[in-house]
Amino acid sequence: MCDAAVTVKVKYSVSSLPIATAKEVFDLVRDDLSAVEREFGRQSKSEVVVIQDIARYLLSGGGKRIRPLLLLLSAKALGFTGESRIRLGAVVEMLHTATLVHDDIIDEAQTRRGKPSANTAWGASKCVLAGDWLYMQSFQTALDERNFKILDLLIGLTQQMVEGELLQMQKLGHLINEEEYFDLIFRKTAMLFKVSMQLGAALAGVDETVEQQLGEYGRNLGLAFQIVDDVLDLVGEEATLGKPAASDLREGKATLAVIHALERGTGAEREAIRTVLADRDFTRVKHATILEILRGHGSLEYAMDAARAYAEAARQSIADLPQANAEAGRALRALLWVPGYVTDRDR
Ligand code: IPE
Ligand code: IPE
Ligand code: MG
Ligand code: MG
Repeated sequence: MCDAAVTVKVKYSVSSLPIATAKEVFDLVRDDLSAVEREFGRQSKSEVVVIQDIARYLLSGGGKRIRPLLLLLSAKALGFTGESRIRLGAVVEMLHTATLVHDDIIDEAQTRRGKPSANTAWGASKCVLAGDWLYMQSFQTALDERNFKILDLLIGLTQQMVEGELLQMQKLGHLINEEEYFDLIFRKTAMLFKVSMQLGAALAGVDETVEQQLGEYGRNLGLAFQIVDDVLDLVGEEATLGKPAASDLREGKATLAVIHALERGTGAEREAIRTVLADRDFTRVKHATILEILRGHGSLEYAMDAARAYAEAARQSIADLPQANAEAGRALRALLWVPGYVTDRDR
């Protein structure tokens, strides 16, 4: 049993805290994650059948559930165990799902989570509206907390994500530099990781320094997460990813490894990459040719090194977080496990 009654605050440093195993993490959050699934299911009810169908379809498609995981661990690491953590876990997953629905419409993606994407099954028009509905449903659920801080975080987040997608759209087909790349991935992905962690802190009502540390963990982890997503897009298979492979180049998106190769490539190599980004297909230059160029310059390794550095920075961000009790210590150790999971995953 957990000794929640222990109130003595012990200060450990990360180096003295062993990283949890995957099984320990799963055991720690299994019940909470199931509760989040049920909450998402309850929140997916609408009298308009098509909305409910789309929401349920998305929910049943699965997904890694990494954002609710972060929220649950953040709350737990700060000693908060109230029911709000389940509701807000569902809120961040619903928000994430809404962004995926819209992202797949924008990217014209055919598959998601190993199944036809919602826009393929229902068409773009209905899915724009279903995405809007999901956004609002997640805000409605958040509103039940009657906590302005929570709404403040969620509204700022949603605007940043939309801005990120729009900025990305403006840059499609163009060469961008690393600074622009990191700005984009912060907005479109890392911000939600950051806010998931901050929401846990908001529930626990901790001081600003602790909220900042957890937010910093989320930001670093989110950057690592998107860098890995972008590498997987270049080297992964659709069957494993559950979504189209090599889609970023076909969408005209230059991601970190490609930016690296562009800065180091020969004239002909740069031209090959430029051609693919402009054509948005692999008819003139093959995908394999791009991969050869990237491998020749160690660009995939460069991107993975960057992801690993951010993953380590995430661990460091929570290095001196105090622990309220043994359960909080377990959550903190689980938070130390997540960065390794993010960089080692294959989907
Ligand atoms: C996909 O997120 C969108 C990105 C930010 C890259 P996930 O990889 O977390 O998607 P699911 O929820 O597991 O399907
Ligand atoms: C993440 O970027 C987009 C969102 C934040 C919704 P991607 O466009 O790389 O996501 P995937 O690869 O389609 O999942
Ligand atoms: Mg996409
Ligand atoms: Mg991607």
